[in-house]
Amino acid sequence: MSVRILGIESSCDETAAAVVADGREILSSVVASQIDIHRKYGGVVPELASREHLRRIVPVVREALASAKLDLREVDAIGVTQGPGLVGSLLVGITYGKTLAETLAKPLVPVNHLEGHIHAVFLEAHKSGAAPALPAVCLIVSGGHTVLYNVHSRDDANRDAAALWSYGKIGQTRDDAAGEAYDKVAKLLGLGYPGGPVLDRLAAAAGDAPPPVKFGRTKIKGNAYDFSFSGLKTAVLYHLRENPDYLEEIEAREAAIARGQRKFEQLLPLCSRKTLGLVREFQNAVVRQLVERTSKAAAELGTPSILVSGGVAANRQLRAAFEQCSAATGLQVYFPSPALSTDNAAMIAAAAYPRLKNHVLADVRLNASASLPLA
Ligand code: KG4
Ligand code: ZN
Repeated sequence: MSVRILGIESSCDETAAAVVADGREILSSVVASQIDIHRKYGGVVPELASREHLRRIVPVVREALASAKLDLREVDAIGVTQGPGLVGSLLVGITYGKTLAETLAKPLVPVNHLEGHIHAVFLEAHKSGAAPALPAVCLIVSGGHTVLYNVHSRDDANRDAAALWSYGKIGQTRDDAAGEAYDKVAKLLGLGYPGGPVLDRLAAAAGDAPPPVKFGRTKIKGNAYDFSFSGLKTAVLYHLRENPDYLEEIEAREAAIARGQRKFEQLLPLCSRKTLGLVREFQNAVVRQLVERTSKAAAELGTPSILVSGGVAANRQLRAAFEQCSAATGLQVYFPSPALSTDNAAMIAAAAYPRLKNHVLADVRLNASASLPLA
């Protein structure tokens, strides 16, 4: 009999529920995104996020159960994101998870959202019958996080989904997360919110457009595995200020977005070659920094695998660059599919499985932890 865990995720702006069997088999995964609500503010508004989670949580959980063809009573445990995240948002998922666990007399499993992102890589690998070898270096790169961990299992040869892992933080951003830099640069360029997906596509469409400015390597004193993106964002800002000829097209794009024309196909004709070259140069700098520091960590720590997860892991150039690095170095690089890269509850249910198996449980006293550390 398989162990079926209902996962609940509400740490940021996605209300999500999923059912996963034995930590690896996704029976259902439902994600209700709030992007349309936060878009006009250019970022997530915590107060609106918690209110929306409250509105969506019950239907989202019902839909996850219905598409897994399960009744609530057939679920073996409830896994819920404890943190890190927005405290008001987390509380909605936690309160609902606690209530379900209490009412159904099922175990309640608290999950660290970042551990969920790591499990997303294993969920994806499982689909193709693979399991990344441990120890691994894991890059979690999203709108809220850019952090490097090493991931160990007590017995690294054991690839069982029920094995508990341990983590060590080896690097992190000193300022902005990479996704945050994407979102801020997109805002400067009048390209709307969130910025990652549109900048990703514009960079790919840049063709042979030359970079109007060059962004060199970001130097960091101290830990060579730390990241920094705010200087890059500021360099884009200064370049735009020094070149007022960008203003007209920025205003044209802002006007298009205000009319609801925010699709890539609608924005591309409003971008000059100079803008496309700028976007690609920005992306080159972000990708270069992420790939160089992560692969350096894997090589120096002697780990055979690199895991990459979080919203920015959906970026095509980042994937291609890691694949190139893998071909050149022999390091195995694993990504979740784009749907499992961004926030979802399947990864929470998967991360709950080894905790359930090892009796790492919570009770009704479980509280949200906005800055819950993984290591
Ligand atoms: O993991 P996620 O859904 O939420 C958290 O921030 O935890 O990540 C969202 C972030 C946003 O900053 C978004 O701009 C970025 O991921 N993103 C991308 C891409 N898709 C999403 N960044 C670069 N390229 C993409 N294709
Ligand atoms: Zn996340």
